[in-house]
Amino acid sequence: MEFINIAIDGPAGAGKSTISKTVASEMGYAYIDTGAMFRAVALYAIRCGKNTEVGDEIAPLLPDIDIDIKAGENGNIIILNGEDVTGKIRTPEVSMGASNVGKIPEVRQKLLELQRKIAKSGNVVMDGRDIGTHVLPDAQVKIFLTASPQIRARRRLSELMEKGETVTFDEVLSDMIKRDENDSKRAIAPLMQAADAILVDTTHLTLPQSIAKVLDTVKEKAGEIL
Ligand code: DC
Repeated sequence: MEFINIAIDGPAGAGKSTISKTVASEMGYAYIDTGAMFRAVALYAIRCGKNTEVGDEIAPLLPDIDIDIKAGENGNIIILNGEDVTGKIRTPEVSMGASNVGKIPEVRQKLLELQRKIAKSGNVVMDGRDIGTHVLPDAQVKIFLTASPQIRARRRLSELMEKGETVTFDEVLSDMIKRDENDSKRAIAPLMQAADAILVDTTHLTLPQSIAKVLDTVKEKAGEIL
């Protein structure tokens, strides 16, 4: 039986996870947050005192890293070597670390295998940077979500402030621009809109409007297939 794969890619703060989660729940599909997998690798590396920018320091750790991803009430639950790290992978340090480890070929290969295995096991909405271009090139529906850097930084700032992090708008914006550049300029599987992806710009849309737009697009596309 062939399962439906919905790929949602885009830069940090474009609303991917909230939108993907809602679309998945409306469709009755599993939601898979691939960024969380890169974050788990980064957290492990940081805890080991390694430099996330150095492939030779990170690649040897991979056999010791086991990542499991489960459906939770509020998005995915990420299990790193048996420990629930869901709440620990959302710090600015881990965000940058995830972007760094995302450049390392061995990390991408390990996570690619896990991501494809999951997508083969049921209908999924998978979000990330390279889902439509590399992980699931045959996904039946591909969306590329974007928004201006200022809007994305503002949204990310309120998320971080809600969690009690003390960061400024300028710090969030400059981290985001650095991460965008890291993610789009890397040699393997860079952040890029797939040729057959539908572009959704959420700059001037509220969250409910963005969700409605993506959901309409998905239903229209999925309707053509089902
Ligand atoms: O989606 P996110 O912000 O949680 O992702 C964190 C980082 O992980 C992102 O800056 C780059 C990396 N990543 C990736 O390289 N490929 C993916 N499919 C998802 C995330």
